Amino acid sequence: MKEQESKKEISLRVNGKLHTFRVAVSLMLVDLIRDELGLTGTKVGCRKGECGACNILVNGELFSSCLYPAIRADGKSIVTIEGLKREGRLHPLQKAFIDRGAIQCGFCTPGMIISAKALLDENDHPSSYDVQRALSGNLCRCGGYQKILKAVLTLVKRNHR
Ligand code: FES
Ligand code: FES
Repeated sequence: MKEQESKKEISLRVNGKLHTFRVAVSLMLVDLIRDELGLTGTKVGCRKGECGACNILVNGELFSSCLYPAIRADGKSIVTIEGLKREGRLHPLQKAFIDRGAIQCGFCTPGMIISAKALLDENDHPSSYDVQRALSGNLCRCGGYQKILKAVLTLVKRNHR
């Protein structure tokens, strides 16, 4: 007979909204976000913390949600790509990616934008090197790195986030 996996009740805020779930201790946050909350903007790539597709902010800090146990998110505040919109308007980073043609298939885009947001929240005026370093954990299968870098730097120049 299969042993029942232990579960735990957690409460967390996702994009400003409070949720309570009873979750298996092995559940990763990315699966809670996508399967329970239907927030599929956060992507699943490698599940090894190597591609950045699943990046989210937890209490303002950047994390790979594929390696983040959901039970650890108890009491925390999560921001996903869907949470960047304000009053129905795109975040300036989202707009810059569109304006600069920095989106091809779009798979890496949410993770890239979340990584860029984490950087800009910490540093108003990052250099090109800072941006490259901040995005170095994000893989783009379409090889769109130059346009992605330009999109973030355009925003930095406008001093607008
Ligand atoms: S899916 Fe999480 S880092 Fe690749
Ligand atoms: S735009 Fe396709 S993976 Fe980056």
